[in-house]
Amino acid sequence: MIFLEALSVNQDSYLEIGGCDTVELAKKYGTPLYVMDEELIREKCRRYTDALKEYYPGEGIVAYAGKAFLTLAMARLIHEEGLYLDVVSGGEIHTALKAGFPPEKLYFHGNNKTGEELEAALGVGVGKIVVDSVNELEDLLARFKKRSAKGRVLLRIKPGIEAHTHDYILTGQEDSKFGFGLADGSALEAVELVLSHKECFELVGFHCHIGSQIFQLEPFQLAAEKMVGFMAEVRDRWGYTAVELDLGGGLGIRHRRGDTPPSIDSFVENSASAVQKAAEERDFPLPRLVLEPGRSIAGEAGITVYEVGVIKDVPGIRRYVSVDGGMMDNIRPALYGAEYEAVLANRADEEPREIVTIAGKACESGDILIRDVLLPPISRGDLLAVFSTGAYCYSMASNYNRNPRPAVVFVSEGKSRLVVRRETEEDLTALDEL
Ligand code: LLP
Repeated sequence: MIFLEALSVNQDSYLEIGGCDTVELAKKYGTPLYVMDEELIREKCRRYTDALKEYYPGEGIVAYAGKAFLTLAMARLIHEEGLYLDVVSGGEIHTALKAGFPPEKLYFHGNNKTGEELEAALGVGVGKIVVDSVNELEDLLARFKKRSAKGRVLLRIKPGIEAHTHDYILTGQEDSKFGFGLADGSALEAVELVLSHKECFELVGFHCHIGSQIFQLEPFQLAAEKMVGFMAEVRDRWGYTAVELDLGGGLGIRHRRGDTPPSIDSFVENSASAVQKAAEERDFPLPRLVLEPGRSIAGEAGITVYEVGVIKDVPGIRRYVSVDGGMMDNIRPALYGAEYEAVLANRADEEPREIVTIAGKACESGDILIRDVLLPPISRGDLLAVFSTGAYCYSMASNYNRNPRPAVVFVSEGKSRLVVRRETEEDLTALDEL
């Protein structure tokens, strides 16, 4: 049943994560509970950093994508591991700074950064802004002029490759709200605009992100080639040599047994060698290579522990097993059809013998966490642990039906610590006015 390195089963047949007994954790912190193996997160950070050193002869930067999972403790951990941080809102910037994250190591992304967010970012000295549109360039230009300051920017480019879990397409249309198109010429226009205002902009380089939860390496290779080709074109036209190439994130993780995403090592090697080869072919100096992983750092390190409540049989059809959370703490099955696996945390060694459907407690028929999962016979009060929920679950959680959001606990070497306390019902009305 257990196929992830974060997890093991102890003599009591209880599921363990980071050396901590999940049954004890549920008793101590309540359910639903997000539990994250801190060591595993750190290890993934190091795998990225080490792989970049090993496979890329130029300078390399790993910028963790905070949208996957960001709290004060996570921002601090990322800083301790020497990574940079990709942020996409004033809230993420605030979280990073509050945790003591150096503003100069932030990459500020987003297709519609508000005036307030930009002003705050410039005010605190955010390292680099990844610009997404002409409107944003004009807005920044005015702000830099007013401040008589120069800002470091990257331009987000649509390389015309779109990738999803097991599939990718080469798009001529480049139909995406993000970035400047290569095919429609808007990327070149943006470069021209930026280079014509050298007193305001320091154009550091270019960025692209082709998708998320990707299991193939080829689209990343194609994206790297296209981006280096574009950088060479910019050099040939304007004599400007960009120093940084940011290839975004996107590496997939294991949700279910049988999922076989590439390792971090082979992912990094693939991108690094594609950049190197393309640079050599075009006689382009090796750029500083930036990777922005989110899911592949936080995802497999996390589980969610629920308590089983109502069990309902629909004769001849299915058995619904309802848990005390659902789409409020994990919207991914409802939103993307994401598939998860689970075990009974308090009977993790028992032979799985029945196929059931795990339902959430939200007032919504679509609130199904797992359709058809094989588990031991279940009783009310059992604990269910869903795997690989470390990314895009807490960060996308809601208070639907006025359910308080769960606590988040970090575990490491047999010790646990609360990093986000459970919301209370009082918290739910804290912002309300009568
Ligand atoms: N960089 C940029 C510019 C991005 O837009 C993203 C993700 C990343 C890096 C990190 O990608 P990752 O390594 O995590 O794949 N909510 C969706 C995922 C949205 C990803 C958006 N951008 C989900 O739950 O699957």
